Amino acid sequence: EQAGKGEYDHFMLKEIYEQPTSLAQAVEGRIDDGIDLEEFPPGAFEGIDRVQFVACGTSYHAAMYGALSLTQAGVDARALLANEYGASSPPVDDRTLVVAVTQSGETADTLSALRRAVRKGARTVTVTNVVGSTAAREADDSLLIRAGPEIGVAATKTFSSQAVALTLLAGRIVEDALAGDGLSDLDSLLAAADRLPGDIERLLTESDAAEIARRYRDSRSYFFLGRGQGYPVALEGALKFKEITYEHAEGFASGELKHGPLALVTEETPVFTVFTGIEDDRTLANAEEAATRGAPVIAICPADHPAADVADAHLEIPETDPRLAGLLANVQLQLLSYHAAELLDRPIDKPRNLAKSVTVE
Ligand code: G6P
Repeated sequence: EQAGKGEYDHFMLKEIYEQPTSLAQAVEGRIDDGIDLEEFPPGAFEGIDRVQFVACGTSYHAAMYGALSLTQAGVDARALLANEYGASSPPVDDRTLVVAVTQSGETADTLSALRRAVRKGARTVTVTNVVGSTAAREADDSLLIRAGPEIGVAATKTFSSQAVALTLLAGRIVEDALAGDGLSDLDSLLAAADRLPGDIERLLTESDAAEIARRYRDSRSYFFLGRGQGYPVALEGALKFKEITYEHAEGFASGELKHGPLALVTEETPVFTVFTGIEDDRTLANAEEAATRGAPVIAICPADHPAADVADAHLEIPETDPRLAGLLANVQLQLLSYHAAELLDRPIDKPRNLAKSVTVE
């Protein structure tokens, strides 16, 4: 097992550092003048007027991330927890596209939601890391995220590859659903996707996450805030943190802080705030509400961002398109969780009570 980890102490760290490669693979051959998905040529999504993503755990956060590119472009889309799909019973017909997001392709909850969608007559797609997995076989079509094998129970590189693959898939769906009108600022998105591996490489070399993890190691609870694509990243940041450190962590939509969670905020609750470039002034105002109650605020944003000046600490991300900035922030949060768990000497690759793939409902 040690051999498989190479120079790294844990598979999780190795997989975090593999992201420049896994993301280059995720976009390879899929970007030229536009979004070019071999599996879904122009017209493939004609007649679709509603999109539902179903997923669990980290994949659900990637699904939320992908759904935003659709809603922001004016397409009816939502991400649903696969295990709530039956109980919430959303409308499905033959103009509905149901996208199962599952890196393993074997999660029982997600398979059950996918089967329900098939029974209701939806068009189905699986976004997965595993060729020939059950979900890939049972959906009409599949899109591979090409992340390579992931051993650590805490998903890292598969999340970023899912989010980028889903953002590209969303771009193709938008072109068909809106009859030719594509994503706004497509050139900016594609240039950012092309730069992503290099941006992450730079971030990994320069990250201060280990130092920040040390500085806040004695906290009572860890909060993560974000808005737009930053919101699923905040949820994912908190999930990763609790999974591998066993410390209490919660993610919130920045604007929700004042609607309840603020009651928990003290000088012992560091607030990690993700800035993606979408309504950042509002997010900053939300972070300041926490700072006023004495909480340390750690801004995840580019170097010259206004939040970097007012926050107590700063985790830097390269400047990029708002639809991909969250992925850079997520890498900083992955490193933060990793280093925090390492300080606590946790079994990082195999957290208690958790399994890589959950094949029971
Ligand atoms: C388990 C894993 C999570 C994962 C979830 C969904 O709970 O511990 O890391 O996000 O399953 O897995 P999937 O293979 O469907 O993406």
